[in-house]
Amino acid sequence: MSHAAAPRPLSTRAGNPLVGRIRVPGDKSISHRSLMFGAVSLGETRIEGLLEADDVLATGRAMAQLGAIVTRDGEGAWRISGLGCGGLLEPESVLDFGNAGTGSRLTMGLVGGHAFAATFVGDASLSRRPMGRVLDPLREMGVEVIARAKDRLPLSIKGPKTPIPITYRLPMASAQVKSAVLLAGLGAPGVTTVIEPVATRDHTERMLVGFGASLAVETDADGARVIRLDGRPELKAQDVVVPGDPSSAAFAIVAGLIVPGSDVTVENVLLNPLRTGLFQTLLEMGADLSIDNERLSGGERIGDVRVRHSALKGVVVPPERAPAMIDEYPILSIAAAFADGPTVMEGLEELRVKESDRLAAVARGLEANGIACTEGEASLVVDGRKAGARIGGGRVATHLDHRIAMSFLVLGLAGDAAVTVDDTTMIATSFPSFRGLMEGLGAVFAEVV
Ligand code: S3P
Repeated sequence: MSHAAAPRPLSTRAGNPLVGRIRVPGDKSISHRSLMFGAVSLGETRIEGLLEADDVLATGRAMAQLGAIVTRDGEGAWRISGLGCGGLLEPESVLDFGNAGTGSRLTMGLVGGHAFAATFVGDASLSRRPMGRVLDPLREMGVEVIARAKDRLPLSIKGPKTPIPITYRLPMASAQVKSAVLLAGLGAPGVTTVIEPVATRDHTERMLVGFGASLAVETDADGARVIRLDGRPELKAQDVVVPGDPSSAAFAIVAGLIVPGSDVTVENVLLNPLRTGLFQTLLEMGADLSIDNERLSGGERIGDVRVRHSALKGVVVPPERAPAMIDEYPILSIAAAFADGPTVMEGLEELRVKESDRLAAVARGLEANGIACTEGEASLVVDGRKAGARIGGGRVATHLDHRIAMSFLVLGLAGDAAVTVDDTTMIATSFPSFRGLMEGLGAVFAEVV
């Protein structure tokens, strides 16, 4: 529940060029959804390449508490015997989501479509994050909410007997909110409609169709996506193959671009266009980045991403690109620190409510390492490297945020002095093999005593 493990600081410093081919673990968004959709489908869903990290394992445990049978077979695949749409059972104990925003928010949607109560808890980071964004539409659908502090964890929700199918226009660009409403809509008789003015990752839509739901997406006259889901579908178990997570690949890719002499390929990376904003931005910065072996797998585009050390230049990242790279701004800021000229990032309001206030955490981390930046309410300008400036030497506060930890460890690999992060335990929430894979490419890590 709370973050019990003692903090584990770690340092990186410049050493070898990074060279080699790696595969990163499965995509976190698709992994969570595979377990959830398997739990509400009839039959046995088999998941290959599931991300075996704390966030996703918490979702697996929650699905088991809700009545699904969740096992890992001898070949490393996960198998979920589902209960069918509307068939989840009232859990006997609290659902503990640890650090996981996606797991907790999407499961609130699932539970909201069932006529029983469940209690949600999480670690200190998750307990600070706003849940009203999910609870407000669920309340419109008839869900009761009891929370100790306003719309924060720990909280309990109870779904109505007959959830009301609603039309909901997203007030912020959030795939989690969109997904929670759609998942509650699975239990509603009639059509649940979500309107998203700005497109966010569409794994829920694609996968629900794959599991047999009737769901249609249109673009309206204003360019908004209108998603209509027919409630109470018959969902059927599927075989899912989870592609590599582009948000994890991002760390090795940026490291390859900023460490002199590097040549790194990350194989089997998900290239869904609503997830590839970072790659597009890096190309605009002048990155030597290419995609080989592009193919389709399970309805998603995947490929091998190759980067070689590059002279980067600062760019303006358009705010409308934010949803397609929302988790990548911390690592983009590290690339920007090595670029020639400023990099301007706008439309970053959602970064304030991630595992930490990422805008503030990145800005403080950059400053601690000699990189000038300007933090606005929803923007960040990172000054590129100035001739003769020394980068590194700082200690970074990670605030229970895995992506802050990994981003600044990457900074150290190309800095003039070692970079220390105050805690690496949270890396296990999304990318437990991060250190091993980076060491395999030649990265130098040092324990801090
Ligand atoms: C996710 C959506 C995003 C992202 C998160 C995963 C998802 O969150 O930051 O890591 O799987 O739906 P928001 O919906 O809050 O933007």
